[in-house]
Amino acid sequence: MDGDVRLLGKDELGACQRLADDRGWGPEEHKWRFLFSVGRVYGVDAGDGEGDGELAGALVCTPYGEDVAAISMVLVAKRFERRGLGGRLMRHAMEAAGTASFCLTATEFGRPLYERLGFRSVGMCTTYTGVSEGPSKRSESQPVAAADMAAVHALDTEVFGADRSQLVEGLPSFCETLRVVRGETGIAGYGGAWRNDDRVVVGPVIAQNAEIALTLVDEVVPEGPVRLDIDHRHPELIDWAGRRGLRPAFTTTIMEFGAPVANDPSRLFLPVAQALG
Ligand SMILES: CC(C)(COP(=O)(O)OP(=O)(O)OC[C@H]1O[C@@H](n2cnc3c(N)ncnc32)[C@H](O)[C@@H]1OP(=O)(O)O)[C@@H](O)C(=O)NCCC(=O)NCCS
Repeated sequence: MDGDVRLLGKDELGACQRLADDRGWGPEEHKWRFLFSVGRVYGVDAGDGEGDGELAGALVCTPYGEDVAAISMVLVAKRFERRGLGGRLMRHAMEAAGTASFCLTATEFGRPLYERLGFRSVGMCTTYTGVSEGPSKRSESQPVAAADMAAVHALDTEVFGADRSQLVEGLPSFCETLRVVRGETGIAGYGGAWRNDDRVVVGPVIAQNAEIALTLVDEVVPEGPVRLDIDHRHPELIDWAGRRGLRPAFTTTIMEFGAPVANDPSRLFLPVAQALG
């Protein structure tokens, strides 16, 4: 664990998954692959004879242009915890990204570490899980078409507050469902859902108002086990989850570092993933 922080390649996904497993996180292969494709995955080798190619710690940093970078998957193997490795990984990734701001969603374990680094809390997020009965039969939204992508990207940039072009381009293949609501002046909202291990995560949902957001959620949610990461600034989504019989599973803290992100949380209804904002 004394070695340098280094960039990991896609062929090291297995080592990342073993580290996640050490902390009780699922394999999340689809998510890790997407993170490898849009972000930079950093790691520190364990080097303690527990097996070649084992990692002591890892994190993902996904820069969106020069403005904002999302930090995620901050993991340190239990046998190496509380020796400063989490902080070392964070400082390395933040310096390398060099963006004006950083955002992340913190677990209770990570929050004190991020606070010490200068992150501030900007909101709370509760993850709702349960079994969904499936999408509503209405169809006020349509499957996204290639011709919609420029407008989806423009709306995403305006609401998220940074240019996530690479991530947005990847959404049609990452998501199993991706739909848009077309308004009189272009795209009024877009929403997706993607499979993570044995459940489907509903998100992203970005829309001009709550009514459009709920239409999208209603029409992208699949039948079966689902998860929604709901920002407390969206009580209408909390109501929706309650009406659908979903229950709170855990709560995390939304944090930022540096210049305030020029986003619009009122129209950012659900993140792509907590890892990506
Ligand atoms: C969060 C995590 C990455 C910290 O890694 P680390 O190498 O131990 O971090 P550092 O040594 O740099 O900093 C440790 C600080 O983190 C916090 N922390 C770490 N483990 C903790 C625990 N079990 N309970 C409470 N606080 C904890 C403490 O503030 C601690 O400081 P202290 O030792 O002075 O009390 C590691 O605990 C981990 O992988 N946890 C499980 C996965 C997770 O929740 N990751 C965060 C995602 S947002």
